[in-house]
Amino acid sequence: MTADPNRTEPKVSHADLYHPSDAVKRAARIKDWEAMSRYAADHPEAFWAARAEELGWYRKWDKVLDSSNAPFYKWFVGGKCNVVHNAIDRHQSTPKRNAIAYLWQGEDGSERAIAYGELAREVGKFANVLKASGVRKGDRVTIYMGRVPELPIAMLACAKIGAVHSVVYGGFSVDALHGRIQDSSSKVVVTCDGAFVSGKVVELKQIVDDALKRENGVTRVICFKRTGREVGWVEGRDVWWHEAMKDASPECATEQLDAEDPLFILYTSGSTGKPKALLHTHGGYSVYTYTTLRYVFDLRDDDRWWCAADPGWITGHSYIVYAPLMAGVTSVIYEGGPTYPQPDRWWKIVEQYKVSVLYCAPTAIRGFMRFGPEWPRNRDLSSLRLLGSVGEPINPEAWKWFYENVGGGRCPIMDTWWQTETGGFMITPTPVLPLKPGSGTRPFFGIKAEIVNEMGEPCKPDEEGYLTILAPWPGMARTIYGDAERYRQTYWNRYPGRYFTGDSARMDADGYFWIIGRVDDVIKVSGYRLGTAEVESALVSHPAVAEAAAIGLPHELRGNTIYTYVILRAGHEPSPELAEALRQHVGKEMGPIAKPEKVEFVAKLPKTRSGKIMRRVLKARAQGLPEGDLTTLEE
Ligand code: WTA
Repeated sequence: MTADPNRTEPKVSHADLYHPSDAVKRAARIKDWEAMSRYAADHPEAFWAARAEELGWYRKWDKVLDSSNAPFYKWFVGGKCNVVHNAIDRHQSTPKRNAIAYLWQGEDGSERAIAYGELAREVGKFANVLKASGVRKGDRVTIYMGRVPELPIAMLACAKIGAVHSVVYGGFSVDALHGRIQDSSSKVVVTCDGAFVSGKVVELKQIVDDALKRENGVTRVICFKRTGREVGWVEGRDVWWHEAMKDASPECATEQLDAEDPLFILYTSGSTGKPKALLHTHGGYSVYTYTTLRYVFDLRDDDRWWCAADPGWITGHSYIVYAPLMAGVTSVIYEGGPTYPQPDRWWKIVEQYKVSVLYCAPTAIRGFMRFGPEWPRNRDLSSLRLLGSVGEPINPEAWKWFYENVGGGRCPIMDTWWQTETGGFMITPTPVLPLKPGSGTRPFFGIKAEIVNEMGEPCKPDEEGYLTILAPWPGMARTIYGDAERYRQTYWNRYPGRYFTGDSARMDADGYFWIIGRVDDVIKVSGYRLGTAEVESALVSHPAVAEAAAIGLPHELRGNTIYTYVILRAGHEPSPELAEALRQHVGKEMGPIAKPEKVEFVAKLPKTRSGKIMRRVLKARAQGLPEGDLTTLEE
């Protein structure tokens, strides 16, 4: 296969094996990993049906899996359910009602503790606010908020009435937000006046107002007051969250939905064109996220779970909002920047709330490493029993630092590989599996993963190839909203009958998987998923730019960083000021995370005869690597 210069080289070492302690093994829910794995592989439908039985259904399914219209698989066909029934309603008749669902801390130190009972009331009220705003079953609602409890409340309220939420990450900006509002044809947008992040205020409402100056069909903007700063207001369109909630009734029946009814869409960057909206459903997604969370992190009633991701990405959807609530645990949500005001902010939170499981991204760990191990070591982190990693390959140095300095050498690290498309963990340890730093170990129960070459033949151990999944699983995205054909093309056409992940990987002789990186034009910056096409279109929207190309290059802290190559329009001259202006422009259009590290002015770009930019060549050149096969290059 084509070597991708933009990748993290895992060190495949068999010597570095970390065995779980007896205490971890004793506590583990799944003691015999091999037996469970074998059972699920041999009887996938029985395995998933048994997991589904652990949740509540209004009506039981007739058929576990319907493959008749593959790749548009259906799960738990005929079943009636609602994720909110399991996440909230089910707990109301048990003592869980008084247990804490969310422990929230603002960057300014303010705190809130929300019990399951209160969550039920708030979600009921907001569901009624949405209804009063004209939202009906199946309608899309765009949610663009900071990290406040009202974000999960808004998501759950949509789910409760069968509306489909589309959460846009609060770090995105005008163009990215506008495109997602338009593509989903949302009539309602839920936002905040602003958000506190790393000592600054992100003016979310202002960004919504700017996005809605462009063409749109939005009739209502509901704004939660967080910062109290002055905001623009459009009479008739805008309402304050607290005013709308004042008279809303907490009573609202949870809609009884088909298992395959849509729960949410979530836009994610792909290799070409505009971001695609992956669609997840109520039934299969509930079963999959609930099962993976309970088996991988072994969560119990008395756990304090902290998934430090943003609710605006799939990690937050699955493992801050839906799965932890279904599992009935207490989750921590922290609003702000990880090192604000000091590099021990996270460790103070772990100490204060006695967090028992911490799940975060390698980029955060690498960020903490720069400040030295004293910061975590000076805090009492003895409440921790498990750690987790997600979003990008974790380099063995970061793994070991995390293991020693945060986990005190006693907490296994669950390195979970998965994607927006997969809904939940796919390649992941459970606590009893011996670990190798940098490997996500083995496929989860019922997941059949295989690494293949260009021809679709299985690779030999340690040989690099494409990661594919052989059989459907309940948490899989069902389609791309509004573009089923693109779903089929992107994921199921390359190797018919298999799901194509877009990642390269290898498997070692022990059957452990090592993820190498993306093989398409997706760039992972600090674990955030961005598309080259989006960055390029933001650049081209600047009047000075004729053409642009974006690539990802390895970066010590962020995993990858964005480099861009720009051809200017006639009448514009290259200058450092213009390069800076273009960086700022991308930041304003797409969001600060998409700001290129470097803007280089060029006279031409390497292209194929059909006009496609050869980013692979740009990447190789930038790193002084061999440029590979250039036969398709147009000179
Ligand atoms: C990468 C995030 C290595 C991978 C949940 C994948 C990882 C993409 C890991 C999906 C991991 C995620 N080790 N790489 N543990 N987890 N990735 O959709 O390239 O934002 O295809 O979902 O992140 O990113 P997404």
